[in-house]
Amino acid sequence: MAQIFDRSSNALARMSLVLTGLIIIGLGLTLDELQRSPWVTRQGQRADQPVPFSHKHHVEGLGLQCQYCHTTVEESSYAGIPPTKTCMNCHAEIWTDAQILAPVRQSWATGESITWTRVHDLPDYVFFNHEIHVNKGIGCATCHGRVDQMPIMYMQNSLQMEWCLNCHRNPEKNLRPTSEIYNMAWKDASELHPVWCASDDVKKGMPTAESVTCTEENPQPGAGEQVAALNQPLAGLHPQGVGTTIDSEDTGPEMLPAGLHYTKFTDQEALGKFLAVHYKIRNPRELTSCEVCHR
Ligand code: HEC
Ligand code: HEC
Ligand code: HEC
Ligand code: HEC
Ligand code: HEC
Repeated sequence: MAQIFDRSSNALARMSLVLTGLIIIGLGLTLDELQRSPWVTRQGQRADQPVPFSHKHHVEGLGLQCQYCHTTVEESSYAGIPPTKTCMNCHAEIWTDAQILAPVRQSWATGESITWTRVHDLPDYVFFNHEIHVNKGIGCATCHGRVDQMPIMYMQNSLQMEWCLNCHRNPEKNLRPTSEIYNMAWKDASELHPVWCASDDVKKGMPTAESVTCTEENPQPGAGEQVAALNQPLAGLHPQGVGTTIDSEDTGPEMLPAGLHYTKFTDQEALGKFLAVHYKIRNPRELTSCEVCHR
């Protein structure tokens, strides 16, 4: 039978098989690409909202803190969307007959909440929790971008699994002191932006985020790498009373803990490593196991 087909047609058959294969692979890649494209993930898109609420005006312009409106972000999985009452704290007095605020006044009058369109919305089979991220040193801006510069809210990152895993594989590069999580303009530690941190958990034996104190100002100007003086307020650090929150058995309340050593960090990798230890961040293997996010 073999002689009916000559060598060239055999090659042709093989060629068309290869071609079909390539087309199928190509199609697969395109669909995969499509599934990850901003068009499907809604990344970067401005949602239609009943009221064109501007974070830029309210955060950057008026200086409101995130927690003023997103009250539960530190203690629950859900950050919270403010009730109409929060808007009326001001808009009962300001811009009282502006047309764009009509839905707010109507909601206040009827008691029916404003129906905001969700911008970030993970599928139900994914577990996410704000509390742990915020209390372990991940800033709002790391995940949500420069919210303070958004006239209309949009999603900065895809929120796809790969994005979550990227950080869970190496959280150090994104860790900052918990005192800085609301700081929209935070920059990683570097030569130009050194960060000094001290910890009193060695003494207490129990690392917690609270036992770490960090500052962007040299705690002792001119002293280089720091050793804090005993029972003496650190110049330039926390002007309104150092140590009021720290209670060390040696020095008593209202005093600095004995022998607080400030270390200067000039690169993010090193700062991240320090914080990961003191915030007790699990290792990447544990943090990327499926059960963490799919329970
Ligand atoms: C004056 C109140 C107010 C303040 C202050 C505020 N927000 Fe909001 N935020 C809202 C309202 C109202 C919405 C829902 C409408 C929208 O999406 O724009 C919202 C939505 C969001 C969303 C998207 C929610 C979703 O649907 O997925 C994020 C993220 C967010 N805010 C982050 C922040 C951050 C970060 C800060 C601080 C820098 C902040 N907000 C400060 C009122 C506020
Ligand atoms: C702390 C006071 C305060 C709170 C709370 C507040 N606003 Fe405002 N809002 C203002 C002021 C002041 C302006 C005028 C801003 C300007 O023109 O720079 C304004 C302006 C606006 C505007 C007009 C467009 C713009 O951004 O300039 C809208 C819409 C608005 N606010 C919606 C809301 C909603 C919705 C809430 C509740 C989630 C809210 N505001 C909470 C003070 C507040
Ligand atoms: C590790 C990334 C991450 C950090 C850090 C983070 N968020 Fe979110 N945020 C998300 C994700 C993911 C969602 C969507 C959650 C969902 O759909 O269940 C979300 C949703 C929100 C929402 C909508 C309401 C909700 O809880 O679903 C608001 C408001 C919000 N974030 C505000 C903040 C503020 C304010 C901060 C800083 C204090 C912050 N986020 C820090 C990832 C993050
Ligand atoms: C920028 C870094 C970063 C991003 C992005 C991020 N995470 Fe995390 N996540 C962390 C850190 C840090 C922890 C705390 C780890 C620890 O304490 O061991 C954590 C912890 C968690 C936990 C553990 C909660 C618990 O109680 O055990 C879950 C669940 C989680 N993340 C889900 C997600 C999901 C889902 C996404 C994506 C939508 C995401 N994370 C994106 C850094 C990140
Ligand atoms: C850090 C959190 C996190 C971890 C760990 C994680 N996932 Fe996911 N996973 C997600 C998120 C977020 C999505 C939703 C993606 C989206 O919206 O498209 C997802 C979606 C999925 C999907 C749906 C299909 C898809 O790709 O969209 C499957 C299947 C899945 N994950 C399997 C796994 C398996 C298996 C593991 C363990 C090897 C795992 N995940 C670990 C966060 C995580």
